[in-house]
Amino acid sequence: MNAEQPLNQQGQKSYSGTIKNFSKERYISSDWSAREWNAVWTKSWLAAVHVSDLREPGDFVVFDLGPESVLLTCNAQGNVQAFYNVCQHRGVRLVTDHTGNTENFRCPYHSWRYDTDGDLIYAPHQDGFQEGLPTQTLCLPAVRCDKALGFYWINLDPNAEPLDAFLKEMVSIMGHYEFENLTLVQDQTVSINCNWKAVVDNFSELYHVHYLHPQHRRFVDCTESLSECYEGGHTRVWVPGAKTDSLFSTPDKPTDLLTMQLQAFGLDAEQYEGKVDEIQAAIRMAKRALEEKEPFYGNFSDEELTDVIQTNVFPNAILTYQPEMLWLLRLRPHATDPNQCYLDKLSFERSPRDAADRPPESTDDLQEKRTEHTGKTNRPERNCFDYSDVITGSATMTDTIDQDLSLLAHAQKGMHSEGFQGPWLNEIECRVSHFHEHLDTLIRHSEN
Ligand code: FES
Ligand SMILES: [Fe+2]
Repeated sequence: MNAEQPLNQQGQKSYSGTIKNFSKERYISSDWSAREWNAVWTKSWLAAVHVSDLREPGDFVVFDLGPESVLLTCNAQGNVQAFYNVCQHRGVRLVTDHTGNTENFRCPYHSWRYDTDGDLIYAPHQDGFQEGLPTQTLCLPAVRCDKALGFYWINLDPNAEPLDAFLKEMVSIMGHYEFENLTLVQDQTVSINCNWKAVVDNFSELYHVHYLHPQHRRFVDCTESLSECYEGGHTRVWVPGAKTDSLFSTPDKPTDLLTMQLQAFGLDAEQYEGKVDEIQAAIRMAKRALEEKEPFYGNFSDEELTDVIQTNVFPNAILTYQPEMLWLLRLRPHATDPNQCYLDKLSFERSPRDAADRPPESTDDLQEKRTEHTGKTNRPERNCFDYSDVITGSATMTDTIDQDLSLLAHAQKGMHSEGFQGPWLNEIECRVSHFHEHLDTLIRHSEN
């Protein structure tokens, strides 16, 4: 399968790949999780940290992954490196803060100290080590780290293929969005009672959208979406934006969400009464007119100016973006339990403004609340919560994701039922099939 074989959700171009179903074991079995750890998590390049978090000497970020924890640092020369986050004395996790800036890292147990190059620089009572203190071998073990698409990526496999080779076409299809120039405005992590792949599956198909997300029909056309499957297990979907869903009759007046988009670009919604079909072209023109002031608009095709695009980079990164914004949704497995996972949502904006004069985004996050910025770096603090907080309304990740989360916990319960054999996929779910096919290939190769 490749990008030249797209699937239109209405089936206007038939899907030429083969949909493969699979057993449910992969969602619930600890044995399967162990195989995945060996074949996927310890072998894949994973988007760990946005470049803006590691710009100044001394900046650091911790990226937890299953049973492992990785420390990314920016050294005195401005070079970014990654290390296992574990003290070489007696194995204590060295850094517990998520982000920060420091001259060196002091272990909370016996006060061994490491610099931002991972070198051991101090240990108390040094004379008492009868076999000496070989600092070359007692430095923090390095983890592969490289930069692409505005992020530092890590790989636990020292012999992994280069990042570029792993990402394949992903750099060429997203490079012009220049994610490195975006600003992080919100950092959230939710723990969910389901397998990580149930969340990836959820964000790999629009089959559920008409029913679970009725608000989408007021600003995007999921019926005309286009799904693409790429080599390496990666996938993408284009959803035409700044219009209503073509499965339903066009309204006489712009919907509330289209009205907000028009207003954000200085257009009078009343002018579009009876002409809702003209809104998409009008917003494209308005963005083109901004090119002189905001040259990044020149990077994009007409479709890219208004469509919402989501690209899933195998195995765990889901990027949803428009010229003005990006969400990185990222799955991380639980250390021991296949029935639990973590979903990170990092929200970025091209030109962050004060909430008061900030235009609404073209997605449905109108009720999104900003977290407070930390005083020192102006970085939003990470906000961690449980999916039950979302269901009770004490936390939100936007209406759409909240709706998804309400379903996912039920999905995991059903997976355990004797009455459920495994998924039975529609063509519209071709990206789900493509992802699992690649996962199966990796597991087969690693075990042969
Ligand atoms: S475990 Fe870190 S100094 Fe002892
Ligand atoms: Fe959804």
